[in-house]
Order: sequence, then structure tokens, then C-alpha cells
Amino acid sequence: MTIVLLGYMASGKSSVSKLLGKLLALPVIDLDTYIEIKEEKTIAEIFETKGEIYFRMKEHQYLKEVLETKEAMILSLGGGTPCYANNMNLIHEYTKDTFYLQTSIPEIINRVKDEKAKRPLIRNISDEDLPEFIGKHLFERNVFYQQATHHIFTDNKTIEILVEEIRESLH
Ligand code: S3P
Repeated sequence: MTIVLLGYMASGKSSVSKLLGKLLALPVIDLDTYIEIKEEKTIAEIFETKGEIYFRMKEHQYLKEVLETKEAMILSLGGGTPCYANNMNLIHEYTKDTFYLQTSIPEIINRVKDEKAKRPLIRNISDEDLPEFIGKHLFERNVFYQQATHHIFTDNKTIEILVEEIRESLH
């Protein structure tokens, strides 16, 4: 069984995938971490030195590599993964267990505002411009996120509750 978690930056993908992996006794792969290990650079360094297009190409390549192992796993994507290179169609060739962790704009702003530095796409956006930027960004990305089979709203929910909701939809 391959379960894929997707959603905007700071939607809780990494924390949820870790607990879900523990409870289902499945390995957890975080695509960003996988890319960082393979490329021997942090995501921020890849964006800085090679640019976003290179990152998107590598993201697609490693996504394919991970899916092709056909091992049972929890796969946590980067926020932009579903939105490039036809990645959602690729994922759905391997599994229909895709979960969109949907977080409201105010909640996303709350969570990212103190950790912009490690997020290359928003690090140069001022706090004042953040709501408009994230609003537009989510509007553009929504069409891809909506392709996930399951939608889980994350606002005001603990990681434990989110994991329980995912487990219930798997039955
Ligand atoms: C990105 C989100 C990041 C990372 C990269 C690009 C995006 O992952 O893949 O910085 O395009 O939204 P997280 O969602 O884990 O922060």
C-alpha cells in the first residue's frame, strides 16, 4: 500500500506522515529529504545554485524513482510536487490513496511566518505581502491539489486526529 500526502507548505505533511508510518508500520519517505540526500544539497541550496526549473526536473525524476520501487510506503510530497510535470497523473498510476491536507490561508500564514528562511519560494516575501502571495499561489495550485482522492481539513486538529481521519478513509 502506498499512501501519498500532499498539500501546501506547512500543511502538516511531514508530521502526519511520520505518525501514520509508525501506526501502520510502513516506511516513510519525505520527497524533499530524498532529493536533499540524492543531490547532497538542501532544497534552499538547490533553488539558489541551480534554480527552480532544475529543482522541478529533479523532483519529478526522484518522485518516479520512489514510486517505481513499488514498495509499501507513506510518501510525503513537497508543496509544489502535484503542480508540475503531470505528477498527479503519474502518482495515480501507482496509487489512488492520495490525501490532500487542506489548510486555510490564515493558518498557513501563522505557521510559515517565522520560518520563511528555509522556504525558498516565500523567503523574500515581506510579512505584509504574504497573505496576497499565498492566496494567489493557492488559487493557482488548487486545481492540482483537488485531484487528490481524499481531502482532509487540518485547521484546529492535532496530528493524532488527522492520522485517525486518514486511517478511517483507508477502510
Ligand atoms: C515547495 C515546497 C517545499 C519544497 C520546495 C518547494 C513548493 O516543500 O519542496 O521548497 O513549491 O511549495 P514543503 O511543502 O515540505 O515545505
